[in-house]
Amino acid sequence: MGASILTAKNLSKVVPSAEGELTILHELSLELNKGDSLAIVGASGSGKSTLLGLLAGLDLPSGGEVTLAGQGLSNLDEDQRARIRAEHVGFVFQSFQLLDSLNALENVMLPLELDGRKDARERATELLQRVGLGQRLTHSPRQLSGGEQQRVAIARAFAAEPDVLFADEPTGNLDSHTGERISDLLFELNQESGTTLVLVTHDERLAHRCRRLIRLEAGLLVAPLEP
Ligand SMILES: Nc1ncnc2c1ncn2[C@@H]1O[C@H](COP(=O)(O)OP(=O)(O)OP(=O)(O)O)[C@@H](O)[C@H]1O
Ligand SMILES: [Mg+2]
Repeated sequence: MGASILTAKNLSKVVPSAEGELTILHELSLELNKGDSLAIVGASGSGKSTLLGLLAGLDLPSGGEVTLAGQGLSNLDEDQRARIRAEHVGFVFQSFQLLDSLNALENVMLPLELDGRKDARERATELLQRVGLGQRLTHSPRQLSGGEQQRVAIARAFAAEPDVLFADEPTGNLDSHTGERISDLLFELNQESGTTLVLVTHDERLAHRCRRLIRLEAGLLVAPLEP
């Protein structure tokens, strides 16, 4: 397949703890091409969210390097990394991080408006309809259920058509039917726009729809990356 969009080389993360330094990610390398889909699986505490944050440039590694859309992230300052993220990345957090002062529609419109898109309202409305929330546009996050907030977060992450969509447990709060719908949507966008998917998931069905899969055990990569 096409050119590589995301690479990690000898990525590690060490954090201080009361017992001394704690290695939460050990020398991990991977390479993803445009349009790939990767599932990251592993037990709670194995380092999945840590890895996702490093790959998306939200956090800096203790060692190694991430290259996203041709740019090495370690040499960039926080503003430059923020610009790369705005241009290339969508992120669905484990805790949705919606803005409480904005309603569902405004939350999804925000990245589009920051991007200067004139069709922000139309596109945000369409995405919310696609995740089944056409009747909840003016609800604030507080007035939405956990699963509904999850779906708003997914619509927001897709809004600006990112090259790479990172999602931490995208179906974690959803019943199996809604989860399946969201999985379908993720792979539709993967097919339609060539969006690369990097998903942390405990959902076996979702994991097995991805072309590639890695398993973490205590911060170590234990499953092969190749299909
Ligand atoms: N900033 C930090 N300081 C100290 N320890 C941390 C820090 N961030 C993460 N950890 C530890 O690193 C380990 C990996 O955390 P991480 O959040 O990546 O796990 P996870 O695989 O996403 O788990 P879950 O499935 O429960 O979300 C955990 O044991 C956690 O306590
Ligand atoms: Mg996690």
